[in-house]
Amino acid sequence: MEIVIVPSPEDGGRIAADIVCGAIEKGARTLGLATGSSPLHTYRELIKRHRESGVSFAAMSAYLLDEYVGLTPDQPQSYAHTIRTELVDHLDIDNARVFSPDGGAADPSEAARRYDAAIVDNGPIDVQILGIGLNGHIGFNEPSSSLTSRTRVKTLTERTRADNARFFADPADVPHHVITQGLGTISDAKHLVLIAEGARKAPAVRAAIEGPVSAFCPASVLQLHPHVTVVVDEAATGELQ
Ligand code: F6R
Repeated sequence: MEIVIVPSPEDGGRIAADIVCGAIEKGARTLGLATGSSPLHTYRELIKRHRESGVSFAAMSAYLLDEYVGLTPDQPQSYAHTIRTELVDHLDIDNARVFSPDGGAADPSEAARRYDAAIVDNGPIDVQILGIGLNGHIGFNEPSSSLTSRTRVKTLTERTRADNARFFADPADVPHHVITQGLGTISDAKHLVLIAEGARKAPAVRAAIEGPVSAFCPASVLQLHPHVTVVVDEAATGELQ
């Protein structure tokens, strides 16, 4: 595992964008995308490089990590909608090749199985961008998730619902369920890039990097992966030994 400590989140975005662009140059065709605050500097940097340096995503496909059950891509809080407005609409990637779990499916568990199969069939994902939750989740694999889990429906903890309430008009609107790639699914990607910023993330970063590999800290599964880059700002390293 490579740990890159950067002075600021903006520097972290540049490092993660270097990784993505370097992989594209070497022939990468599939990106894994996280939503939330952590990857925003990376996405802004990718948009900048597309506009100013002509980096092209035209040959790429992308798979989102997760989606809220009950939200469809036309709803602004859905992750499919969020990733379009924050990234996809500003690149030359074909929107039809940006895939997300079907949060509006009548049978979410079946939708999860289909999504996992699509990733297996079209993967492996070359570079998977990840954020980390305060409780150590990646994707929405909350603590106690099996380290070998596949894409499935999960119930959000109240802590995660509270953390994500900032994206909803009313905290009560945060869905209780999500479809998330499993830890096994995420681990199939060739290169995992975890981005963490801010002192709030320091305990989770420590548990993920220095703690035991355990379902109680889902991000600790990264310790088992052969190619991981953790990009952290100084604040997020505050609890490392
Ligand atoms: C979202 C996802 C989550 C977030 C995590 C951190 O697609 O996979 O694991 O990365 O909840 O969220 P932020 O970055 O908003 O702190």
